Amino acid sequence: MIRKFDFLVIGSGIAGISFALKASPYGKVALLCKTTLDESNTSFAQGGIATVMYEPDSFEKHIQDTLIAGDGHCNLAAVEKVVREAPAQISELVNWGVDFDKTDEGLFDLHREGGHSDFRILHHKDNTGFEIQQSLIEKVKSDPNIEIFENYFAIEILTQHHLGDIVTQHTPGIECYGAYVLNYQSNHIHTFLAKTTLLATGGIGNVYATTTNPAIATGDGIAMVHRARGVINDMEFVQFHPTGLYQPGQRPTYLITEAIRGYGAVLRCKDGKEFMQKYDERGSLAPRDIVARAIDNEMKIRGHEFVYLDVTHKNAEETKEHFPNIYKKCLESGIDITKDMIPVSPVQHYLCGGVSVDLNGRTSINRLYAAGECSCTGLHGANRLASNSLIEAIVYADAAVKDAIKELNKVSINEFIPAWNDEGTKLPEEMVLITQSFREVEQIMNSYVGIVRSNLRLKRAMSRLEILYRETEDLFDRSVVSREICELRNVISVAYLIIKHALRRKESRGLHYTVDYPRSMKNEQ
Ligand code: FAD
Ligand code: SIN
Repeated sequence: MIRKFDFLVIGSGIAGISFALKASPYGKVALLCKTTLDESNTSFAQGGIATVMYEPDSFEKHIQDTLIAGDGHCNLAAVEKVVREAPAQISELVNWGVDFDKTDEGLFDLHREGGHSDFRILHHKDNTGFEIQQSLIEKVKSDPNIEIFENYFAIEILTQHHLGDIVTQHTPGIECYGAYVLNYQSNHIHTFLAKTTLLATGGIGNVYATTTNPAIATGDGIAMVHRARGVINDMEFVQFHPTGLYQPGQRPTYLITEAIRGYGAVLRCKDGKEFMQKYDERGSLAPRDIVARAIDNEMKIRGHEFVYLDVTHKNAEETKEHFPNIYKKCLESGIDITKDMIPVSPVQHYLCGGVSVDLNGRTSINRLYAAGECSCTGLHGANRLASNSLIEAIVYADAAVKDAIKELNKVSINEFIPAWNDEGTKLPEEMVLITQSFREVEQIMNSYVGIVRSNLRLKRAMSRLEILYRETEDLFDRSVVSREICELRNVISVAYLIIKHALRRKESRGLHYTVDYPRSMKNEQ
């Protein structure tokens, strides 16, 4: 079936829905998500959303903190853009019904997180993302110009490559005409044609064996652009959150927000001793890459599988008031955080790299924009400052809409794209071939492409991955398309890009830390 829209939005997190809401006054919007509207990294966000609110905080301080965390690799223009445009986008969220916590005086209650020199994290208790996602969903469902497609899986973006022999006109560069999309409940592949397409497909967590990301995070947007020969940057900068709740076998890993360290929690070894001062004078509130590496190092030295996060010295009622969900979740596992230390270990959490975009959210492919975690704006550089991603997503979605509407009347829908051809394919003989290969990718990435890397480990990872790549492409060519085989292909592409970019970087910087090009870190092995 062919469907035509002015705007095709792939992804229903903060980037996708905010784009859809702002684009809908200008044309018809299709909003796709691969499961339900609420399954996204956005829904999982805990700590909050960074913005400069009150003095003595300032744009300059937020810019400086972002640049320091980014370790000399940020795009200054992107940093300035996000920091300066943040307050206006926060007002938009509030207008859409997002309820950020306030003090008794009616001011926004601001938290502080690692790497921030001031209190500037707006939040809704300890489940800010859920509050944002629910408010956006309510808004988008009542917009008559937005058609929502749940359980629709985008397989490929459409480009000249799909025109086959038909050459309509010469266009410089690659063009995007929409996407092939699988409704995996009816098993039909639809052709979505659009004047403008936004990729807002989120993170890549499931490339790793342990992650805070929900199951939808398989890097689909990045893999699609890679196949379409678009530009992808900074894939080596994978962020590991220092404090995932240690619960072997749980997927996704439950996050213990960094805001709890801003509130006063400290990291301790199993013997109860603090260790962060050995690594950084900011102690437990040092930027994430430093804290994650320090924990990793302590665990390796001592042969332990976790360290502790201790908040027991704080007022119990206040702790429960600020972090009600974490309190409840830990209690379910027999940990009363007001009395017991919390076992934590680092876990894959975020990707700084992705589909390269300019200040207007334009990718290297014409008529294709990207926003949110699947994109690489240069804001985060080599390491993201906590709570800078929700704000980046909404600022860039806004920029993309403003840019796209300028072009809308100049482009037309490409009618020549043929329907998806699955002649000669059949159902995969054994699903286990797909699920087992998926597990192998996760294990390769956890074992060889983690917090501390080496050329030897990266090369081993690449040669293991090449075997999986060949087997999977062969299986894909012979099989009827399914969500499972597409996701497997995508995680293999994303893993390949991470390893390739990591091998290319002959230095340790930010999140990319390699023993072959070390950088002095106090007390590190
Ligand atoms: P997402 O919110 O992940 O949405 C992706 C969407 O794309 C989903 O709707 C999905 O269905 C859809 N999709 C994916 N692939 C396809 C496909 N092939 N076809 C169709 N649809 C597809 N950031 C902060 O700034 N502050 C925080 O406090 C914070 N806490 C976090 C806590 C956790 C546990 C996690 C996991 C992340 C946290 N982050 C935080 C990061 C932040 O939540 C994400 O970076 C951000 O929400 C990404 O938004 P997004 O719109 O780009 O993608
Ligand atoms: C957290 O709450 O610690 C996560 C914040 C983030 O990932 O930005």
